[in-house]
Amino acid sequence: FEVMWDASAAEKGGWSSFMAKEVSEEPEAVANTIRGRVHEGRVVIPELDGLDDLFADISRIVILGAGTAAYAGLVGKYAIEQWARIPVEVELAHEFRYRDPLVGPDTLVISISQSGETMDTLMAVKEAARLGARTLSICNTQGATIPRESDAIVYTHAGPEVAVASTKAFVAQITALYLFALHVARVRGTMGADDQAAQIEELSALPDKIRWVLDNEQERIEQLAHWMADTRSVLFLGRHVGYPIALEGALKLKELSYIHAEGFAAGELKHGPIALIEPGQPVFVVVPSPRGAQVLHSKVVSNIEEIRARGARVIAIAEAGDAAVLPSADEVLRIPLAAPLFEPILAVVPLHVFAMGLAEAKGLDVDQPRNLAKSVTVE
Ligand code: G6P
Repeated sequence: FEVMWDASAAEKGGWSSFMAKEVSEEPEAVANTIRGRVHEGRVVIPELDGLDDLFADISRIVILGAGTAAYAGLVGKYAIEQWARIPVEVELAHEFRYRDPLVGPDTLVISISQSGETMDTLMAVKEAARLGARTLSICNTQGATIPRESDAIVYTHAGPEVAVASTKAFVAQITALYLFALHVARVRGTMGADDQAAQIEELSALPDKIRWVLDNEQERIEQLAHWMADTRSVLFLGRHVGYPIALEGALKLKELSYIHAEGFAAGELKHGPIALIEPGQPVFVVVPSPRGAQVLHSKVVSNIEEIRARGARVIAIAEAGDAAVLPSADEVLRIPLAAPLFEPILAVVPLHVFAMGLAEAKGLDVDQPRNLAKSVTVE
């Protein structure tokens, strides 16, 4: 009689992989990052106590990160500029470090890192501090090097992330950036109390909406990934906040399934990428809500029509009930209704599930993709 004991299987809590477990934890990652930071209809981040003067004085923000973290930064830019009215630039940490960047005491440099140990990001933060900028770390790992080197810290509370490619930390990073934007908007008085309360309501509704996507669409997406296991190239299109999500969808697919994948801004299609469209080419399209800026929605729907006319196989990620998309796409993956700025946190979920499903269909190790490391501690 032999007792089989697999420590790693126990840690996975019955899931087939750490990534499967971590994707299932995306709702909690968002909820736990919000917890304790909303008081009476306002966002108050306790860790940022005492920094009101800094937030009132800064004239620009530079967001730094690498990989998935940089894409979270691209999403955060929209919310910070819209709510707190501060100009934001997003730059890859390794590019920032070696180009004599123009930052100084009027600049807040926000670094984003799940591990808090990425050397490229750490060196960029040190360089920013040397140039006189104030530094804020958005990090998922308590006591890591980057937060220790920064003036202020806002932790994401996604919980430990084991799979090399980031999933639940990504949605937590966007959540933290949104909380930061709302906190600073309150301090700077750029947002009315009613508006702040409405945005908090939207933010707080996200965990249930992510769960809805997992409960209602996960199986179908995995099925789709199985059918597509032999695909050699996948394109991703998005516009506005959907653009960084297209980049993230492509990155995750490359990382996990070793398939050529590229993300584009949908408006850029006619300036080059449309040349790649040939019959059968799969294209994921992140469709903005028709209830947001109508013009964005209709432009993306016409992008779908343009590429379908050239034979593309379109998989749209669209608001449930978006009637305009149904007839023009081959597949529609539904996400619940949300205000436009909050759509990225929902739209990315099907893309995480798809990348994971396709890698599994190919029999690959989704937790440990070849050639990659969870935290890259060399420059
Ligand atoms: C590595 C990982 C990526 C991750 C990036 C940034 O390259 O493979 O998945 O996005 O590092 O990691 P960080 O810990 O700084 O967020």
